[in-house]
Amino acid sequence: MTVLILNGPNLGRLGVREPDVYGTATYDDLVELCTKTGAELGLGVEVRQTDDEAEMIGWLHAAADAGSAVVLNAGAWTHTSVAVRDAASQLTAPLVEVHLSNIHAREPFRHTSYLSDIAAAVVMGMGTEGYAAALRFLALDGRA
Ligand code: DQA
Repeated sequence: MTVLILNGPNLGRLGVREPDVYGTATYDDLVELCTKTGAELGLGVEVRQTDDEAEMIGWLHAAADAGSAVVLNAGAWTHTSVAVRDAASQLTAPLVEVHLSNIHAREPFRHTSYLSDIAAAVVMGMGTEGYAAALRFLALDGRA
């Protein structure tokens, strides 16, 4: 089963976007890390990014219908979007919420996540390595 790694707004600008907060790895580096880690774990992975909330919701609906596990960095939608939460709630396979930064060590408006209580696991503050950790978690005991 292919694991979907879904990234929300502004994450396509990794590497140039606030590197002091999000690191210097680019979005292409992230795709490479996820693809390599997936191959090591025997998991197919598909990495996507969108700045369009409707597109993200459509991807989550398709993942729900396919029974796919999802690694989700919803970016700012994490803190704002009941619609993304409602779409993610329909998943039947595990959801792992990922953030490059430690959202609890940042501004108060980032401390609330609409996703954490429906996620099987939450990874934050590890930079792009958090995505590899999420994939390792999903590979354990055949979760994905
Ligand atoms: C983020 C944290 C969010 O607060 C922010 O809006 C992002 C990225 C992270 O990966 O650390 O876009 O999800």
